[in-house]
Amino acid sequence: MFAPLVIDAAGTPDVTFPPGHPGAGDDEYRMHRNEIAAAALAYRDGDPLPDIGYTPRDHDTWRRISAALASLHREFASTEARDAAERLALPADRVPQLSEASRRLEHLTGFTLRPAAGIVPLSEFYGSLADCMFHATQFIRHPSKPLFSPEPDMVHEVIGHGTTLASSRFAKLYRQAGEAARRAGNGTSLKAVSRVFWFTLEYGVMEENGQFMAYGASLLSAYGELQSFRGVEIRPLDVRDMVTRPYDVTSYQPVLYAAESLAHLEDFLGEFSSGVDGDTGDRLGLVPGEKW
Ligand SMILES: [Fe+2]
Repeated sequence: MFAPLVIDAAGTPDVTFPPGHPGAGDDEYRMHRNEIAAAALAYRDGDPLPDIGYTPRDHDTWRRISAALASLHREFASTEARDAAERLALPADRVPQLSEASRRLEHLTGFTLRPAAGIVPLSEFYGSLADCMFHATQFIRHPSKPLFSPEPDMVHEVIGHGTTLASSRFAKLYRQAGEAARRAGNGTSLKAVSRVFWFTLEYGVMEENGQFMAYGASLLSAYGELQSFRGVEIRPLDVRDMVTRPYDVTSYQPVLYAAESLAHLEDFLGEFSSGVDGDTGDRLGLVPGEKW
């Protein structure tokens, strides 16, 4: 449930929260979100990344979710992700600026972050990965629900994706997905790239010492799902099964896919990504126009 962002003729954004969204009815939070969206919309290539005036509520929310996730990562996150988090060394006591996280990532793996006001078109989002650039929102979830966000906020972008992008092995998989997306064009082949990305770099798990451990950014940044993912159906990696599986971004995933190891994941994604072209979607039986 991404809160829709309306942009008027003068380019001023206005975010609206649907009923049931934690921010519904909180005008102060809505104005803050509008300011953050406006900064992203004003951003142009080559500009310094905009610094956000985070509020005491934002910092408090970050502190709470950051501490909760850190303790879950010790139990449920893959070794590669935990090591990468240590290298990224995000602050736990305040919201980091996107510019800080981006500088750190650039130093570690060459990836940089770019501000996103809201949903970025798929071809642009995935294509940028080929240039080692990741589109990231800068807002923080509503303080009334610190352990849940209906949208990808800074916690998802930086603690989830930032952590994995701080690993040169995961960063290479993101880049390969971006190169595959560029070759895919804008039809069903891009859908295939997006689905495989979803079930690996967003929601993937891998075996480690007989346990399933999370490496996907969505799991690493989801307080509830990270504790419960071992109870869902976990299947071996399978491209055809992934790309034809309906999925719902608004609820817990009922099926996940496990790699046998990080090397197995690299082989699987390397083979898939390098083979993507404009006909991949057709070969996998995806139907143009079908909802995805
Ligand atoms: Fe994500």
